[in-house]
Amino acid sequence: MKVKVLFVCLGNICRSPTAEGVFTHLVKQKGHEDLLEIDSAGTHAYHIGVSPDQRSQEAAKRRGVELGHLRGRKANSEDLDYYDYVIAMDHENYDNLQEISTESNRHKIKMFMSFATNADHDEVPDPYYGGEKGFERVLDLVENASKGLLERILDSQLKNSI
Ligand code: 4NP
Repeated sequence: MKVKVLFVCLGNICRSPTAEGVFTHLVKQKGHEDLLEIDSAGTHAYHIGVSPDQRSQEAAKRRGVELGHLRGRKANSEDLDYYDYVIAMDHENYDNLQEISTESNRHKIKMFMSFATNADHDEVPDPYYGGEKGFERVLDLVENASKGLLERILDSQLKNSI
């Protein structure tokens, strides 16, 4: 059975599609695409059906990651049942996810930066109203946390198979 991962931010046009694209890219690079199912969603309905923000697409493309095929959608309570890891970009996303979770699936909600190795951030900051630097920082943080998340998933798969 696949391990299912959902990345969640506010609008699903900047941080979580970036995380989906970067994490998918890393998983393919490492040859684990058969192990994982990956998606992203937003806690708000502002940008349903919309492509990722151009600034996110350009920042990702500079690192070899394409986001143009992704489309925004809103996270819902069924996602908490379906996915194994529901990964929040910031504390507000985390709190919003807690509100739509139940006692039995709440443990799946994690802060993305808790998987980062050298981060001095505990959140991926919202870049939407800022300049290009903010989008580059999102890529830096997302690349770092993606490596940690994949290692954690592979470790837990290994433990489960012993
Ligand atoms: P995201 O960024 O949560 O990283 O996708 C945002 C996108 C849109 C808005 C806020 C944040 N907005 O207010 O429309």
